[in-house]
Amino acid sequence: MKRRNPRARQQPDYYAKRARQEHFPARSVYKLQEIQKKFALIRKGQRVLDLGCAPGSWAKYAAGLIGDSGRLIGIDQKPVKEKLPAQVEIFCEDVRMLAEAPERCEALVGGLVDVVLSDMAPSTTGKKDVDQARSYYLSRAALTIAQRVLTPDGAFVCKIFQGEDVETFISDVKAAFNSCRTFKPQSTRKESKETYVIGLGKK
Ligand SMILES: C[S@@+](CC[C@H](N)C(=O)[O-])C[C@H]1O[C@@H](n2cnc3c(N)ncnc32)[C@H](O)[C@@H]1O
Repeated sequence: MKRRNPRARQQPDYYAKRARQEHFPARSVYKLQEIQKKFALIRKGQRVLDLGCAPGSWAKYAAGLIGDSGRLIGIDQKPVKEKLPAQVEIFCEDVRMLAEAPERCEALVGGLVDVVLSDMAPSTTGKKDVDQARSYYLSRAALTIAQRVLTPDGAFVCKIFQGEDVETFISDVKAAFNSCRTFKPQSTRKESKETYVIGLGKK
């Protein structure tokens, strides 16, 4: 049987090289760019919450869209080393804990936001069921927080690994938003099982 090279995923592809040239810390920026091109969710002056923001590519790109008059709150359990503009504030926290601590979460976010982004991904084990279950748990935490802090009509973008729980998650997003779409950006690595669930117009 042909074995996969375990380092293949780490080799810089077109998007990784482009991210380096354009001074973004990760290739993931092109996924958000594609989402933005299709759904035009982030606008000047808005407040954005970015869950799982390290190493900072989405935060850097979204900060450019919201401009000086906007505010982006980024949360990750890992520190962000990237230098980000003044409208960005980063907190080092576990999002699963914040989902279970409404007061702490609201204090940290400091008011309602227009867009909640979650690009959170668990550390993968290589066991499909375990990785999917962990991704589902993170997505649920992101949805809980989005329901708490999004302004009416706000938008939600959430990464989830494809698996049996995705349909349940989509139903819950449909219940909380006027419309729900799924989107797999072209810049997603071919072997990746991730997709983005997008909720438009928080009820
Ligand atoms: C794919 S990376 C996000 C990339 C980011 N959007 C960017 O463009 O730079 C996924 C991130 O989710 C974070 N993450 C995973 N579980 C988390 C949790 N429970 N709380 C906070 N962050 C978490 C990881 O630390 C990791 O930095």
